[in-house]
Amino acid sequence: MICENGIGIEGYKMTDVKQVQQQAALSLERLWPRLEITFRDDANAAPADWCAFERRLRHEWERLFGLLIGLYGGQYDFFYHLEEILGATARSWLARPTWLKQLDARREAAPTWFQSQLMVGGMCYVDLFTGTLHGLRDRLPYFKKLGLTYLHLMPLFESPEGNSDGGYAVSSYRRVNPRLGTIEELAELAHEFQEHGISLVLDFVFNHTSDEHEWARRAQDGDHEYERFYFLFPDRTMPDAYERTLREIFPIVRHGSFTWREDIRKWVWTTFNSFQWDLNYANPAVFRAMTEEMLFIANSGVEILRLDAVAFIWKHLGTNCENQPEAHQIIQAFNSITRIAAPGMLFKSEAIVHPDDVLSYISPRECQISYNPLLMALLWESLATREVKLLDHSMRSRFRLPQGTAWVNFLRSHDDIGWTFDDNDARWEWIDPVGHRSFLNQFYIGRFAGSFARGVSFQENPTTGDARVSGALASLAGLEQAIQVADEQQIELAVRRILMLHSIILSIGGIPLIYLGDEFGTLNEYSFASDLYKADDSRWVHRLKADWAWRERIENDPSSPHGHIFTQLVRLIALRKQQPAIYGNETEFVETGNGHLFGYIRHGGGQRLFVLANFSEHPQEMDADRLRVYGPGFSFTDMITSHIFTSERPLRLEPYQCMWLVARSAVS
Ligand code: GLC
Ligand code: GLC
Repeated sequence: MICENGIGIEGYKMTDVKQVQQQAALSLERLWPRLEITFRDDANAAPADWCAFERRLRHEWERLFGLLIGLYGGQYDFFYHLEEILGATARSWLARPTWLKQLDARREAAPTWFQSQLMVGGMCYVDLFTGTLHGLRDRLPYFKKLGLTYLHLMPLFESPEGNSDGGYAVSSYRRVNPRLGTIEELAELAHEFQEHGISLVLDFVFNHTSDEHEWARRAQDGDHEYERFYFLFPDRTMPDAYERTLREIFPIVRHGSFTWREDIRKWVWTTFNSFQWDLNYANPAVFRAMTEEMLFIANSGVEILRLDAVAFIWKHLGTNCENQPEAHQIIQAFNSITRIAAPGMLFKSEAIVHPDDVLSYISPRECQISYNPLLMALLWESLATREVKLLDHSMRSRFRLPQGTAWVNFLRSHDDIGWTFDDNDARWEWIDPVGHRSFLNQFYIGRFAGSFARGVSFQENPTTGDARVSGALASLAGLEQAIQVADEQQIELAVRRILMLHSIILSIGGIPLIYLGDEFGTLNEYSFASDLYKADDSRWVHRLKADWAWRERIENDPSSPHGHIFTQLVRLIALRKQQPAIYGNETEFVETGNGHLFGYIRHGGGQRLFVLANFSEHPQEMDADRLRVYGPGFSFTDMITSHIFTSERPLRLEPYQCMWLVARSAVS
């Protein structure tokens, strides 16, 4: 029997819904007694846990069954896999550590916890930041000082020596890279950090494995079962057919999306690097196997799972093989399984694609949170042009999210910057999208006269003219150039740009995510070019080793721009946490009447917060009449400087100033 409060199924025509419901009910009727037999001892040992499992399974069942039969119902062995998936889900729930079950209960009681203004994220590479997991634990006081509540550790599982795409080629989802530590240390770290209010975020690199993963090795040995885990072709017929409509992701590393393996005399689908083998999710065995890996990671204490490269996981001949409907079904099925076996865990989508497609992954039933690549790209766009029209226009129509979800707003990450805005949004603002992207690339790689930026081009494709940009935040914002020419005024402007950008991601709504290193404004590091394994990949220019002696030296040195950035950022983070209006997603974008001023209003918790940011290196004003309409009241305070203003006269913002304005009566 399906319990009354089942959550139903999506994606089916009404006429089919009934049939799928009947099939779901009958399937569970058949499967449940078998599960009860298999797990009889566990159920007797922990009856409450078993009941919780049954309740959650019945609640999710119709949806999960509907998704899986939609994906795999046509396979002769569908029922076998279905039963295995249920068994894996039950086993994982029963094995889930008590502290995580307690956390699940807390998260279920407050399901929108991640929308809080108290949330602040950071991300780092364990090896570059502290060397080992042990070292990272010792830095807990540092993360707390910064105010982090979310820490994304870059891929730390076993991966090939040499080039592993920064760990994004995973050889085992169950063993930590021995240079960093062990899986036990990871679980201990997760627990300890959680006790201090910091949620652990890890990647689920599920589009591909490394060619050294056991499954890939077995495929290389000719094991037919594992050959079917990947896309292997004896000749160019299928690769050529697919490539007619595929985009190249890493064109300077290799042409096309396939790699010839002489040892097995086959072409392998490799969307990214040649050692990253795409998994074939059309095979239910792959879905089942990856479900088990995902649940294992969940039980090691991860609270937010970053779903890597979501766009690419399903292939259809004749399409670009990105954002296919089945990709969504796969993620929704993972989501449904998670609700049963690790209900406190969230998914974060990493879809660096067209803004419409980014949005398509975000829902409580798919990925509850998502990177916001559009905001990221357009903040840099506005910094280059000094105009906010494209940013403002795009945010008005594209910032809003469904209930129960949130953006992860970032300025830099370990990846490049791609100019992902919508072409029609650009045309609406009389901007030629192609020419504009080319300008932005030129500007940020320092080929545009007068540019303050010092970026490096990434994957410039001579055939299509496409390019992306690498570079550390501070170098892109002008600090590198200014320091080199020892220009105090330019240094000041660069620091202001850096703080303004952070003031925006800290207040716009969603989880701000700091790429650690940026809190000190660290600059590009060019030594990657002489490393055999890195030279081809300019993203290493902004993947920096933390120099703790330097950090400690300048931290309290107000004469250092880096020290100043750090002190101010710590202050801004603390300030964010005190603004109830920053809770949640509701942001109202404001017509500031000045093309250099970006403005928005946040409401909530009895507070109205009006944010204004000046994207130009000259002072700018907002008219008094607009201020009376949008401003927080007759008399108001900028929370960042504590300066008091009235709407009697125009409001003046200094170069690159960002204000957080609150009515004076509301300031305690
Ligand atoms: C994601 C990662 C990127 C990696 C790619 C392949 O986009 O962020 O660094 O190269 O996936 O896993
Ligand atoms: C492509 C992918 C994105 C990945 C990036 C790596 O843009 O869409 O997922 O992060 O390549 O540079």
